[in-house]
Order: sequence, then structure tokens, then C-alpha cells
Amino acid sequence: MAEPILEVRGLVKHYPLTQGILFKKQVGAVKAVDGVDFDLGQGETLGIVGESGCGKSTVAKMLVHLERPTAGTIRYKGEDITSLSAKALKAVRRNIQMVFQDPYTSLNPRMTVGDIIGEPYDIHPEVAPKGDRRRRVQDLLDVVGLNPEYINRYPHQFSGGQRQRIGIARGLALRPEVIVADEPVSALDVSVQAQVINLLDRLQNDFDLSYIFIAHDLSIVRHISDRVGVMYLGRIVEIGRDSEIYDHPTHPYTQALLSAVPVPDPEAREHRERIILAGDVPSPTNVPSGCRFRTRCWKAQERCAVEVPVLAVPPHLSTVKGPAAHDSACHFAEEKHVVPTEAEQ
Ligand SMILES: Nc1ncnc2c1ncn2[C@@H]1O[C@H](COP(=O)(O)OP(=O)(O)O)[C@@H](O)[C@H]1O
Ligand SMILES: [Mg+2]
Repeated sequence: MAEPILEVRGLVKHYPLTQGILFKKQVGAVKAVDGVDFDLGQGETLGIVGESGCGKSTVAKMLVHLERPTAGTIRYKGEDITSLSAKALKAVRRNIQMVFQDPYTSLNPRMTVGDIIGEPYDIHPEVAPKGDRRRRVQDLLDVVGLNPEYINRYPHQFSGGQRQRIGIARGLALRPEVIVADEPVSALDVSVQAQVINLLDRLQNDFDLSYIFIAHDLSIVRHISDRVGVMYLGRIVEIGRDSEIYDHPTHPYTQALLSAVPVPDPEAREHRERIILAGDVPSPTNVPSGCRFRTRCWKAQERCAVEVPVLAVPPHLSTVKGPAAHDSACHFAEEKHVVPTEAEQ
């Protein structure tokens, strides 16, 4: 990988769990994010996937400084940006922007599209002088495939897909280098999801962007991601190149997620093994000891209850040259052919 643009190490966010109204007493913690490591390469797209509640949005919010980490570091181009002075932070925030999940609630209904997209210039007037704003916003509308004449309209006059384009235009206003897109298409109709993904893909090329692309479904990030990280209960359990994760998964949780992804070809579907996991995801206030996935894992043994598996190439797979040798946090990591590869279909 080229010099990473983002390096995340040991990222943790614990929300205190309190009891009592007047005299609050801390009785525990919601371990929303519990030790996350990854790099994002320049111009790369890293997909982050996991079920609802596993901590994806909390990671996203820490990256754009909407939440302060409990522990860990975030580096941007080699500089530690985890805790900076307000002034230094302002400059960094400009370079890392977020696109939110729900285009219905994330746009202020009382503001015109022009004011929504141009709002970041209130905080960073140096990017666009007042007299230049209107032209810039119209440019941005054009770039995301909307008619520049719509500048005075209100969000309710647009469809879901168009609203997400407005959210993307706003994210681009400051010409950032990194976009953190938190489930940018999850709230959209399936028919428009691909259009918005294609738009993001094109913008990445045109503006040299690096993406963190979050989704709860492995099938959505497949075509846009260079690498994919799979999260479970506040941690990344497996991470690797696109083909390593989809065609050669070694973590049981990834294998279970993949076994639930729709397969278009009926014959391939016949041969696919469905893995049904036992029970529900445990509460992040009460994380299992050792491997946090063990309570639902068909491979779990005693060791899994006492020893936390690290996210690395598993020692017994490190001698295997090839796609199975990628980072997987499982003591018994093992390649399993879950879904027929594209070549086989
Ligand atoms: N402000 C908060 N206070 C307490 N718990 C929170 C807060 N934000 C998120 N959580 C909890 O942290 C966990 C992870 O949430 P989130 O990052 O939103 O997950 P995801 O985006 O993967 O669905 C969830 O259990 C959620 O309820
Ligand atoms: Mg979320």
C-alpha cells in the first residue's frame, strides 16, 4: 500500500452507563468501539461492514471528530489528529468529511439546497469568498448530477436519491481528501442505490478521494471497495483485499455473513451453504471474554473463552502463500468456500 492517508490504532469508544437521575452513578459502559485498527491508503476505498449496532457509525464519528475517542490514535498523513487544538483541528476537519446515512433527516428542511451545500463555507470562508459561493454551489450541483437551477429549492422537493446527492455535494464543498460515507445508500430504494454508488465511484476518480464506505451488507460494498473490514461487537474481526474477503474468508463470522448474501445465479445458489448463527449479538455492555464471537460460533473451544484472538495473519496460515493468508482474528481461522467465486459462476 502507498503511504496511508489515515492510520487508526487501538480506537476505543466506551459510553458510560449511568443509574440515578440527580446523583448519576456509573454502573458500566457501552463498549461501542473496543479496539479498532486499520489503514486507509491514498485513493483507496475501505469498506466497513457489520450488523446494526456493531459500532460502525461510532468509528465514523470519531474519524470526523463528532465523537472523542476514549482511547487510541487517528493519524492523518502521519500526523496524530486524535486531540488537537481547536485551530489545528479546524484545518484537519476540512480534509475529512462525512456523508450521512439518512438523506431524509440529515438535511435541514427549512434551508434551501443552496444554503445546505454552502453551509460549510460559513465555517471555512477562506475556501469560498461570499461573492463566489453561488457559482460554487451551482458547480457542485452539476458535479453530483443535479440541475444547477434547483439551487433555491427545498429538500422536500427532491427524491431520496437526489437528496443523497445533495448530501454528497455538501460533503465535497470544502474539497476534502477523505470521505467517510456512513451507509450512504442504505435508506434508498434498491433501484437508486447503484446510481449513487456509481456517482461516488466517479467522484473518487475525478477528485482523487479516499473513501471509508460503511454498510451493513457485504453485497453493497463489493464493487466499490478495494479492501473490506468486517466488524463484530466493536472490533474488526477480518480485513483484507476484496477478493480475499469475498472468495477466501477465514473468519467464521465473515463466512456466516457471506452465506446470507443473495446469489443471483440459481445453480450457484443451490450449491451455496447457508450458515445460521446461534442466538443474538450479545449486548455491548456485556462483551464475552476471550473471542467476542465465541457465543455464536460453531468452532468455539475452551481456548476461545480465555484468549483474545489478535487481528493478524493467523500463524497456521502464514505459511500459505495466497489469498487465505490475510488478517483474521480467529484462533481456528480456516478458509471456507462459502459462495462460488465469480469465475465459477
Ligand atoms: N451516544 C451514545 N450513548 C450510548 N450508547 C451509544 C451511543 N451511540 C451509540 N451507542 C451504542 O453503541 C453501539 C454501536 O452503535 P453504532 O456505532 O451506531 O453502531 P452501527 O452504526 O454499527 O449500527 C450500539 O449498541 C449503540 O446503541
Ligand atoms: Mg450506523
